[in-house]
Amino acid sequence: MYTSYKMLAHIIPFLALLSTALSSPFPHHSRRTIAGVSVLDTPLVRAAQDYARAHSSDAVYKHIMRSWLYGTLLLTHNDTLSATVDLEIHAIAILLHDLGFDQAPNATHISHNRRFEVDGAIAARQFIRRHNVGRRWDERRVQLVWDAIALHSDPKISQYKEPEVEVVGLGINLDFTGPSFGILDAEYAAVVKEFPSDDLDSAFVDGFTWLCSTKPETTYDTFMQPFGERFVQGYNATGHRAIDEMVAQ
Ligand SMILES: *[C@@H]1O[C@H](CO)[C@@H](O)[C@H](O)[C@H]1NC(C)=O
Ligand SMILES: *[C@@H]1O[C@H](CO)[C@@H](O)[C@H](O)[C@H]1NC(C)=O
Ligand SMILES: *[C@@H]1O[C@H](CO)[C@@H](O)[C@H](O)[C@H]1NC(C)=O
Repeated sequence: MYTSYKMLAHIIPFLALLSTALSSPFPHHSRRTIAGVSVLDTPLVRAAQDYARAHSSDAVYKHIMRSWLYGTLLLTHNDTLSATVDLEIHAIAILLHDLGFDQAPNATHISHNRRFEVDGAIAARQFIRRHNVGRRWDERRVQLVWDAIALHSDPKISQYKEPEVEVVGLGINLDFTGPSFGILDAEYAAVVKEFPSDDLDSAFVDGFTWLCSTKPETTYDTFMQPFGERFVQGYNATGHRAIDEMVAQ
């Protein structure tokens, strides 16, 4: 009798630990603080940050980091979303969302015929699979990363998708709009201090111009078309738009 009580005393804490581990994808909840924001810290998140750094200009990398921190801040101010959003999906998707923007001539993940959002989504899926992440990254989680990246430039769709997809879009958008969704001015300013955004607009005009000149057919009828029309000589969407196919001139 005595022995079995003693055994139970050993088993119960173990069971408690086990149930915590099973109920959470991140049993240790490792965090680190960047610009005052507490973010999830896993080996895959670190690897994604390094990968984003290696495949982005300084300006785009800073945008990526700010977007991640704004998305995370938004979650700290929204209990409903933070109860549902998978922080690792959020981090990986937002850190890798601009891989399709990589202007390095030797970048192997840039296609000649797909929208940059799709190049990024495909590259992120390959990145996750390469890291031998096992069962923790089932097809649904990978697909949420794919969707969040593919739809990140279209908030009118992404805001109605899964919370991870929604929050990735919102975090990125916050870099262009300033603090909202409960984020305090001081929190936002601390992020900008760490990752200054003075080069944001010029970097994106440059990136969209690059896409409109290197693969214009992926930009017609998208938000990028006006950038081509204003900044790229010889760019001409007429004849390639939906309206051209459906309505006679
Ligand atoms: C939290 O997010 C949900 C889903 O987007 C939204 O409906 C709700 O208004 C937000 N709550 C706050 C306090 O911002
Ligand atoms: C592309 O070139 C850069 C600069 O030479 C190098 O650092 C990088 O590793 C190369 N990337 C690939 C994918 O070969
Ligand atoms: C653009 O292309 C259309 C269709 O080929 C053509 O009719 C039009 O003249 C072009 N516009 C310019 C400014 O070149």
